[in-house]
Amino acid sequence: MTLSETRLDTVHATAHGAVDLGALPRDFAWGTATSAYQIEGAVAEDGRSPSIWDTFSHTPGTIDGGHHGDTACDHYHRWRDDIALMKELGTNAYRFSVAWPRVVPGGDGPVNAKGLDFYDQLVDGLLAAGITPSVTLYHWDLPQVLQDRGGWPERATAEAFASYAHVVAERLGDRVTQWTTLNEPLCSAWIGHLEGKMAPGLTDLTAAVRASYHLLLGHGLATRAIRAAAPGARIGIVNNLSTVEAATDSDADRAAAVRMDGHVNRWWLDPVHGRGFPADMREVYGVDLPERPGDLDAIAAPLDWIGLNYYFPQTVVADPTGPAPHARQIDLPGVPRTGMDWEVDANGIETLLMRLAEEYGARRIHVTENGSSYPDTVGPDGSVHDPERAAYLIAHLAACARAARRGAPLAGYYAWSLLDNFEWAYGYDKRFGLVRVDYDTQERTVKTSGAHYADLIAAHRAL
Ligand code: IFM
Repeated sequence: MTLSETRLDTVHATAHGAVDLGALPRDFAWGTATSAYQIEGAVAEDGRSPSIWDTFSHTPGTIDGGHHGDTACDHYHRWRDDIALMKELGTNAYRFSVAWPRVVPGGDGPVNAKGLDFYDQLVDGLLAAGITPSVTLYHWDLPQVLQDRGGWPERATAEAFASYAHVVAERLGDRVTQWTTLNEPLCSAWIGHLEGKMAPGLTDLTAAVRASYHLLLGHGLATRAIRAAAPGARIGIVNNLSTVEAATDSDADRAAAVRMDGHVNRWWLDPVHGRGFPADMREVYGVDLPERPGDLDAIAAPLDWIGLNYYFPQTVVADPTGPAPHARQIDLPGVPRTGMDWEVDANGIETLLMRLAEEYGARRIHVTENGSSYPDTVGPDGSVHDPERAAYLIAHLAACARAARRGAPLAGYYAWSLLDNFEWAYGYDKRFGLVRVDYDTQERTVKTSGAHYADLIAAHRAL
């Protein structure tokens, strides 16, 4: 199925005018994003060891439908086809993650040459296609052996992460300049160690706070390690941020909104910007941080850019008896929602971009993920018309362009995701791709949303 065959002109004609393409810089990175465990498959090939997500997804009752990432999109074998799809979309950037258990199967120590070779070839393939690789070092797939030794609640994991980062940067740093240390550490710490809905599946506040600390320490140590191995590297960290509003004007709800903002935004942004861990949240958690002299400086290692993953806003009420941060997100009635049941609010991405620029002084920002899941309908001819996903994409790009017009230093946008993929605890039924994957045949089909993205990219290039 070609792009022109999938194009849906009704959305097309009205929507594109909404994006102020002229506000985006000439060298804008038009990208797509994926992560290793969500697409690669080949979990037992070429020396890869199990990660915490292999363990978690094979634990009964953890994942909808009993799904797991054993095969996923079989990208490990089909990466050439997937690069061709990126090219077909007209993208010039691709954000992917390296699987730590492929490269250093023991977590620390010996390097698996075959694991590194895979990413080496991928990088060469991308560059040959005119697509700039953007490498994320950690997208949640901690080697299980390190979890067995205590995982992120232990300092040794942060140190092992820096060694692994050095290995990857040494090998790929002659061709890759764009580096991300961590993707969404909030999910690793809070959802994985406090809510128990992601690997490693713990519900332990002390472990969660210690994990959050060592994730950020690992980020700082890895930043140093990457710079030592690849002096030209441009390094950032990627956080999933939300706008947070109180549901009512009550003192209790307004205080809850401050706590939720601390939990999802400030806890992750303040330390890397040299402000330390927010004092109010330290009190809320009531857990001693495993601090050592020099850690805060390491965590605040200078960065070249900051990454924003944005999906939804949060409206919260006080929840005094609930878990930290004693605030709970509520569902607003009558607002549009995606297939994840997430509220749609494109203004949120503009607000957050401006916050990063104005409150945190960001000098370069990439929207490293943004996208939506909706149940797709496949037409009799195999085409996938997904006007809701297309509308979400266009509305959020328009909001990004507004932020750029207002002065936010926006350098790139990476649509989540290139492909439908393993959506963690939701398995394969939630589809975020601009390209549909038929999991029985592994056939890929560009959706209408993908065609719109291609059109927008082409229109920006033509300016
Ligand atoms: O699929 C995830 C991705 O791995 C991290 N950011 C959010 C996406 C959608 O839930």
